[in-house]
Amino acid sequence: MRCLLYIGLIIAGCNAQQKQERRFPDDFIFGTATASYQIEGGWNADGKGENIWDHMTHTKPHVIKDSSNGDMAADSYNNYERDVEMMRELGLDAYRFSLSWSRILPNGFSNHVNEAGVTFYDNYINEMIKYNITPMVTLYHWDLPQKLQDLGGFLNPLFPEWFEDYARVVFEKFGDRVKHWITFNEPREICYEGYGWSTKAPIVNATDIGTYYCAKYLVLAHANAYKAYVNDFKATQNGECGITISVNWFGPLTDSADDEYAAELKRQAEWEIYANPIFSEEGGFPKELSEIVAKKSLEQGYKKSRLPEFTDEEKKYIQGTSDFFGVNHYTGVYVSAEEYKSNHITPSLLSDIDVGTYTPPDWLASASSWLKLSPNSIYNSLTHLHNKYKNTKFYITENGWSSPPDSELVDDDRILYYRTALNSLLDAIEAGVDVKGYMAWSLMDNFEWMEGYTERFGLYHVNFDHPDRTRTPRKSAFVYKEILKTRVIDPNYEPDTLTMWIDEGH
Ligand SMILES: *[C@@H]1O[C@H](CO)[C@@H](O)[C@H](O)[C@H]1NC(C)=O
Repeated sequence: MRCLLYIGLIIAGCNAQQKQERRFPDDFIFGTATASYQIEGGWNADGKGENIWDHMTHTKPHVIKDSSNGDMAADSYNNYERDVEMMRELGLDAYRFSLSWSRILPNGFSNHVNEAGVTFYDNYINEMIKYNITPMVTLYHWDLPQKLQDLGGFLNPLFPEWFEDYARVVFEKFGDRVKHWITFNEPREICYEGYGWSTKAPIVNATDIGTYYCAKYLVLAHANAYKAYVNDFKATQNGECGITISVNWFGPLTDSADDEYAAELKRQAEWEIYANPIFSEEGGFPKELSEIVAKKSLEQGYKKSRLPEFTDEEKKYIQGTSDFFGVNHYTGVYVSAEEYKSNHITPSLLSDIDVGTYTPPDWLASASSWLKLSPNSIYNSLTHLHNKYKNTKFYITENGWSSPPDSELVDDDRILYYRTALNSLLDAIEAGVDVKGYMAWSLMDNFEWMEGYTERFGLYHVNFDHPDRTRTPRKSAFVYKEILKTRVIDPNYEPDTLTMWIDEGH
């Protein structure tokens, strides 16, 4: 539009203006994301059962950097109206949040439903619907009922049945209003960090088989829930169901064939192990990874591969069980076949693939050791996924930046990160990737897992010293709001005031 005003100016100038003003499609969904344990608090309120994060933080507080926990967190259990008010201030189209399994089913099993827990989510969802904010609901964002962990959790072959029972309760209770379902958030973090290592609850640290057994039963559980939805709910509820997988970018350090292969192995270990069984044409675990684990397992004296293969029947059952691919994307690293290797515990996923990783020291650093501003990483990840899994629809279900707890409300690094990421996303859309939405992580500061409250991801600052958990918008909230309103990334936009308001119509 603005180009019309410049008729008479040189055409090159007009083109530059047009290029700067590329837009997100009108039906593109912008939102923010959170997770139950990170924001809710009310850890034992009104009949909620204990989950693995309650259990771990209460029995081993030292594993959390500041020895904190999510007992109260941002207290969204008592602040849901304020949360929705913030969504209205930002002008969100959608809000992605997760359900706490043990708030709904205190023991994990569906024989006892905690009605007070259901009421909490009813209120949260109804408040969003009242203001035309679309709820996007994750069934599982890492807070397994402790009773199920006592039975082995994701390593128990019965896990897929337990998850299906829970999913059915949730579809039944909320499916009249919720039309976007995500079964699992980030299988890698659940399986590798929680079972194959010790950087997430339940810190099982079964380095040899934890990741692989968890991967198998998680993927089967996902397929069970998807089929339950399609067979028994979709016809009347008319929604969609998918999974969210963390896909950071792993590119080769050099263009040598060895580095290309190393990067492919790394991608297989990081996310294809969960995505391939669901989205690929051949089904099952990724080929090269399967072969390496099988070979090393036999060499190490195991009777069979530590990676438990799917049967042909299971492969068919799982294929195509997702209406979309939810991508959580934060950063990228380079992968090398020979250089930058660490000494890994053997046997483990990392020693199985045995590659090195490198992050250029000049990439902008966040408050999180793993999170750097990596150029073009959304574009690289999405175009790679798009070429690999044809005709797949994507959402970015998380993307965001951390700052230290004492940082100012003026968060220019976060703003730079969001603008860079959203430009990279526009590049992917222009390259033909079918991306329907983007959820910024996060609406507000929250309990950052093993880092406690020492890393802040919020568009809104939360005062964790105040009993009301007061929420205050950062500068990035105003910038995000402007992008949502205009559908354009203006690199020069500066808010005139840091006072929030609700636009008419929201
Ligand atoms: C995890 O297991 C490995 C291998 O047994 C061990 O070396 C490591 O110390 C364990 N980590 C923790 C945090 O217990």
